[in-house]
Amino acid sequence: MRVFIAGGSGVLGRSLIPRLAEAGHEVTATTRSVDRFSLISRLGATPAVFDALDRDAAFEVVSEARPDVVMHLLTDLSTGDSASNARLRVNGSRNLVDAALHAGTSRLIAESISWVYAPGDTLAVEEEPLDADPAEPRHTTIAAVAALEACVRELPETVVLRFGQLYGPGTWFSSDGRLGQDARAGRLPATDTVASFIHTTDAARAAVLALDWASGVYNIVDNEPASGREWVPRFAAAVGAPEPIASHARPGDIGRPVSNARARATGLELRYPSWRQGFCSL
Ligand SMILES: NC(=O)c1ccc[n+]([C@@H]2O[C@H](COP(=O)([O-])OP(=O)(O)OC[C@H]3O[C@@H](n4cnc5c(N)ncnc54)[C@H](OP(=O)(O)O)[C@@H]3O)[C@@H](O)[C@H]2O)c1
Repeated sequence: MRVFIAGGSGVLGRSLIPRLAEAGHEVTATTRSVDRFSLISRLGATPAVFDALDRDAAFEVVSEARPDVVMHLLTDLSTGDSASNARLRVNGSRNLVDAALHAGTSRLIAESISWVYAPGDTLAVEEEPLDADPAEPRHTTIAAVAALEACVRELPETVVLRFGQLYGPGTWFSSDGRLGQDARAGRLPATDTVASFIHTTDAARAAVLALDWASGVYNIVDNEPASGREWVPRFAAAVGAPEPIASHARPGDIGRPVSNARARATGLELRYPSWRQGFCSL
């Protein structure tokens, strides 16, 4: 198949390209910077310059690639600005979806997030509505995720992958990453807040399998949602940080365990079924 990865230079795209190429797919992967062309080529894809906020250019690039499948892996978190990421989710998704429809593409796989459910103790499943009317800045994030997910559903076949906290080399949750640095600086307390994780390797495996999944929403998380009291000390040890201090949840922290039963029922087998094993790769 011809696969167009919007955001192919990112942490997930870089893990995904070689898997798709090995499986025999013809992959076009995008970046806004020609400096990343050689990286994309080495991984096995044809690079293309693509800015999702430039509507006319987006139409041109997607039409030229004539993809059977578009993968939407666009995020804008390199500066940690959730508002600009929300703008990309809303406006970038609109342009990408319209460009895909214009190019006659019928299938789209989109990256979303799994920390969108209302707080609680039960395992969140995909049928649940998104958290209704939370306080800022979560309000903007949830509204943008809702807009992205509604927009991508305009294609005839759409798979939405709600990933847990991505961890692994190149992510914030790595030795060199933002959370690794926070842990070493004593800025990552062990709170009661529950998180669901997914290693980038397993996230990429899920995205490849999703080429054949039925349209719908799938939580992509590991088997062990965990409170910060459990995972933060393990993470700290993995990245060479001192024992963290324990503290209660901070204002705005939203915790909810997330179910991966639907994705596992499709045959997804996790290389890292728990962050307990995966943190050893950091
Ligand atoms: N589920 C999760 O936990 C999750 C999800 C996303 C990110 N994160 C974390 O956030 C960190 C940094 O994230 P990041 O956003 O910098 O992700 P990233 O992994 O670097 O990927 C971002 C991708 O989106 C592209 N992009 C951004 N803005 C664009 C635009 N306007 N038009 C077209 N393409 C655009 C980037 O291309 P360029 O080459 O042009 O920059 C890149 O390919 C990651 O390493 C990860 O730790 C976590």
